[in-house]
Amino acid sequence: MEAITNKPFRKICKKYGADILVTEFISSEALARDVKDSVIKMGFEEIERPLGIQIFGNNAEALVKAVRIAEKENPDFIDINWGCPVKKVAGKGSGSGIMNDIPKMVELTKIVVDASNIPVTVKTRLGYSEDSKPIVDIAERLQDVGIQAISIHGRTRAQMYKGEADWSLIGEVKNNKRMHIPVFGNGDIDSPEKAIEFKNRYGVDGILIGRATIGNPFIFQQTKELLEGKTPTIIPINEKVEVCKLHLEGLTELRGERNAIFEMRKNYSGYFKGLVNFKPYRLQLVTSTLYSEIQNLLDQVLDIYSEQEN
Ligand SMILES: Cc1cc2nc3c(=O)[nH]c(=O)nc-3n(C[C@H](O)[C@H](O)[C@H](O)COP(=O)(O)O)c2cc1C
Repeated sequence: MEAITNKPFRKICKKYGADILVTEFISSEALARDVKDSVIKMGFEEIERPLGIQIFGNNAEALVKAVRIAEKENPDFIDINWGCPVKKVAGKGSGSGIMNDIPKMVELTKIVVDASNIPVTVKTRLGYSEDSKPIVDIAERLQDVGIQAISIHGRTRAQMYKGEADWSLIGEVKNNKRMHIPVFGNGDIDSPEKAIEFKNRYGVDGILIGRATIGNPFIFQQTKELLEGKTPTIIPINEKVEVCKLHLEGLTELRGERNAIFEMRKNYSGYFKGLVNFKPYRLQLVTSTLYSEIQNLLDQVLDIYSEQEN
C-alpha cells in the first residue's frame, strides 16, 4: 500500500508473520526516468524475502525498462498493479483503468512476463464496473501469458473502496478447473477470524490484508495463531508502544524526521485502537511536529495504559 508498506513497516509485518511482502506500487515511468523517490521505494532487506516489487503503468516501453531496473534489486518477483482505482493512475489507463481494455491488459502483462527473468504476478480487481466483472476470464488469460500468481481485490474500479468486497467471484476464479496458479483473495479482511473464515469458504491459496494492518501488524501473528488452533495473543501496551516507536524510528531513517512525523500520523489510531479515553493523546500525536515530543507522548501512553492493564 502506497505510503504504508514501506521498508520499516514491512519489516515489522514480517516479524509478526506476514508470509509474502510487496513494496508500495512504483510508477514504471518514474523508474524509467530514474526518479529518486521511486528508486528508494524499491529498496528492501534480505529478511523481507519472499518480496515482490510492484510496478504500475500502461506504456510497454516504460514497463519493460522498469522490469530491468527492478530486477537489478534482485526481488523474488515482479507484481503488476492492475488494481489501483485512483484517478491519477486509473484515469491514465494504469492500475484498474486498464480493465476498460482487457486485450491491452493481457498484452502488456505478456510484455512484462517476457521481459522478466523472475516470476511475474498480478494484483487486480473484479472488473471495471458493476456491469463488467470479467475476472474469471481475465485470470485465465493472464495465466495463459505466463503470470505465476494472481491477487484479486473483490471490488470493481468504479467501486473504488466503497461498498463491500464481493468474494464470490474470487471463489469462482479459484474453482475454475483451468486455473493452476495460486489465487489470492483480498478485500475487507479485518480480523483473524474473518481471514480464516474467508480462506476456508472461498478456498483461496492465500489472503492479502491491507487496511487492517495499518498500525496493526499484529494481525499476522494473531491470524497464524488462530490458523494453528491457538487463541490469538492479546498484544500488551508495552509491545504496541515499542513497535510504534520502532516504526517511527525506521521511517525517520528512510524518509527523514519531518516526513516520518507526518506519515506516522495515520498509524496511531491502529496501534492504540480500543484504549479508553485515548482521544486527547491521539490528537497530540497527530498534531505534534517534534520528534522528542512524540517520543514523550508515547512514553506517557505506555505509563498510563500499562497501569490500567495491570
Ligand atoms: C492508502 C492505500 C494505499 C494502497 N496502495 C496500494 C498499492 O500501492 N498497491 C496495491 O496493490 N494496492 C494498494 N492498495 C489497495 C490494497 O492493497 C487493498 O487491495 C485494498 O485496500 C483492499 O483490501 P483491504 O480491505 O484489506 O484494505 C492501497 C489501499 C489503500 C487504502
